Amino acid sequence: MEQNIYFPYLMRIEKIIDETPDVKTFRLQFQNEDEGRQFTFKAGQFGEYSVMGEGESTFCIASSPTRKDYIECTYRRMGRVTSALARCEEGDTIGFRGPYGNIFPIDEWKDKNLLFIAGGIALPPMRCVIWNCLDLRQNYRNVTIIYGARTVKDLVYKHELKEWGERSDVKLITTVDPGGETADWKGEIGFVPTILEKSAPASENTVAVVCGPPIMIKYTFPVLEKLGFSENNIYTTLENRMKCGLGKCGRCNVGNVYVCKDGPVFTYKQLKQLPAEY
Ligand code: FES
Repeated sequence: MEQNIYFPYLMRIEKIIDETPDVKTFRLQFQNEDEGRQFTFKAGQFGEYSVMGEGESTFCIASSPTRKDYIECTYRRMGRVTSALARCEEGDTIGFRGPYGNIFPIDEWKDKNLLFIAGGIALPPMRCVIWNCLDLRQNYRNVTIIYGARTVKDLVYKHELKEWGERSDVKLITTVDPGGETADWKGEIGFVPTILEKSAPASENTVAVVCGPPIMIKYTFPVLEKLGFSENNIYTTLENRMKCGLGKCGRCNVGNVYVCKDGPVFTYKQLKQLPAEY
């Protein structure tokens, strides 16, 4: 019998990490071990996460495909489904459909420098591709991560930021908006585009990946262009307004493009060709 495409995998919440007061990470394991063994995905893809009786919500897969046996997602509590997710406890079961969407072409990035620029809660889609590339570290040259949030308490993955900051093969720059620092804050103070311009990473042979709030992305792209990055070497990921994830509901389309099928990963060049509404 043909499998219903809307039928979710049943996932057990193995671990819950409180990232900030309203952001949590779930580590999820397939209840059916065979399904878990057969499941594969690539960096950049997303899924639909569901709580019975409440509905579904779209998030990227935040863990790396190189880490087997589980997937992780990170979400902010802001609506009905995410509030229901936030009430879940370790051991509870939720649904997951996916993986959907296109991917970051990390095989094409071999022997290049990588520059990851993220803001706020948009680090999760970046975290997947960062860990994927760090687990294949020999394939890439310099790796730089610039991550900013409104305040120190809004920084997610604090334990991993510490780990990346201690690695000799990663350059990590963290920043918070002016006024968001604490007395013992050792990172930068300033908006992400400003800190990017100040740190001026080399654009030659470098791929930039940008994820963040629309306003951050809007001001970051011109800085990258000013630094010499070509629009083909700048990538981002969109998650807006998705529902089915399968190109069927028509909710995610921008012009002729379906974000769920043609994206969510786009180059800056591709974004420039979309209608301004994205
Ligand atoms: S989310 Fe339904 S068509 Fe894209």
